[in-house]
Amino acid sequence: MRLIRTIKQMQDLTSKLHRQGRIIGFVPTMGALHEGHLSLMRAARKRCDAVVVSLFVNPTQFGPNEDYARYPRDARGDAVLCRREKVDLLFMPTAEAVYPEGHDTQIRVGRIGEVLEGALRPGHFSGVATVVAKLFQMIQPDVAFFGQKDYQQTVVIRQLVRDLNFPVKIVACPTVRENDGLAMSSRNRYLSMEERRAARILFKALQKGKALLQQGERDATTVQEEMTRLIRQEPMAKIDYVSVGHPETLEDVSRIEGPVILLLAVWIGKTRLIDNALVKL
Ligand code: PAF
Repeated sequence: MRLIRTIKQMQDLTSKLHRQGRIIGFVPTMGALHEGHLSLMRAARKRCDAVVVSLFVNPTQFGPNEDYARYPRDARGDAVLCRREKVDLLFMPTAEAVYPEGHDTQIRVGRIGEVLEGALRPGHFSGVATVVAKLFQMIQPDVAFFGQKDYQQTVVIRQLVRDLNFPVKIVACPTVRENDGLAMSSRNRYLSMEERRAARILFKALQKGKALLQQGERDATTVQEEMTRLIRQEPMAKIDYVSVGHPETLEDVSRIEGPVILLLAVWIGKTRLIDNALVKL
């Protein structure tokens, strides 16, 4: 595995790989890697000739009162994991290289970037879209792999790729979960033991919603209310949103007639967790 720190070096290497006719698979990450990230690397390994992983905690996708400063960072441990997964190139640019003095372009993804997470975290998806577009320019991947855990992010990225004509195929991989159902996330590292136990409520609520739908419930408000009621039974949990939406537009549905996406954002103490379940009826 080669460690790449400059954009020029990265662009030269991927141009060379393209000239050799190799298919480049790309896994963008902010580090603090867990099994979810490793599953993306394995998916890339299976489908592509060369695997590139980026490790960059992107400042522009964090709001002023969010956790950019304390976001878990473990570059050395991450590099060990990447080497174990037989990653070819690990790209670790500095914030100064990605956003040099005078950098003044931002991508604003329309409606899809402004609902749910976008409404509660203004500017978040603009930061994500901008850095992903920049990473695509630096790495020129053929295929890019994202985790389904960040469901809205995958929808935003698909919109970005469509609208800006990036020649990149987007693959969304299933959420990897702990034994008790908690979705793997770098932010789980913030949870105390008691909070970790309380965090199981997210998965339980998704299961509740799924069960109701499978039993024939078709009123979205009932599903949403039942999930909300369950989460409220956990004293450490505070709900940002519980949504029953269309899987592509994420718009709220009223009468359920096809597949729906159940989306949650819940605070457990000072940690904000998100999760989702796609229910195909
Ligand atoms: O999902 C993430 O870790 C980040 O949002 C991403 C895609 C690496 C962009 O910074």
